[in-house]
Amino acid sequence: MARLVRPSNRYKKSFLEAVEEPGAQQLFARFRGRPEGESFPAYVRRIRSYSKGVSLKNGLVPETTYWLVEGDIYIGRVSVRHKLNRSLQKKGGHIGYDIRPSKRRCGYGRLILKLSLRKAKELGFSRVLITCLSTNIASQKIIKANGGVFKSEVCTQKGKPTTYRYWVDIK
Ligand SMILES: CC(C)(COP(=O)(O)OP(=O)(O)OC[C@H]1O[C@@H](n2cnc3c(N)ncnc32)[C@H](O)[C@@H]1OP(=O)(O)O)[C@@H](O)C(=O)NCCC(=O)NCCS
Repeated sequence: MARLVRPSNRYKKSFLEAVEEPGAQQLFARFRGRPEGESFPAYVRRIRSYSKGVSLKNGLVPETTYWLVEGDIYIGRVSVRHKLNRSLQKKGGHIGYDIRPSKRRCGYGRLILKLSLRKAKELGFSRVLITCLSTNIASQKIIKANGGVFKSEVCTQKGKPTTYRYWVDIK
């Protein structure tokens, strides 16, 4: 059964396979853009430390990242942000997620948000803001299936698709 775990070296092989999948370039921008020479264990340590507010750069807020895994297989990633800054209020919200290309359209997107809402509750949230592009039909379905209530549509960049903002009350 798929479950959320904290990033761990156990999933290294599968994670690195996911990074190389066609269509995965954007998803792993943070991993690809890691400091030169940073080992996988050091990368894992660094992203785990973000939950404590350590090593954060460029105005990032503390966030807890989980990986959706099944056995030793890496399926996707979700980050639960501990607070919103001005930019996340508009675009980004409390929770960001993605599923590796080869595992899409199997219900994992819906599942990763469902499981992460429980994690957000553990962090003390009773409601969270989730955003997605107006062109991202899959994400809109996932958010609505998890109780998302449309709040507003905002323009973040002229000439680019707008962003839809939803609030989810966590039961
Ligand atoms: C968006 C994303 C998480 C969806 O993951 P997924 O595992 O394919 O989602 P699910 O299988 O749970 O599908 C949810 C719904 O979206 C639909 N869907 C999935 N991909 C779709 C697509 N490309 N076009 C239209 N609908 C799509 C599914 O059929 C399903 O519909 P249903 O509720 O009517 O059954 C995944 O495509 C992804 O990682 N995209 C890149 C990152 C991203 O956009 N993250 C979200 C940022 S807000």
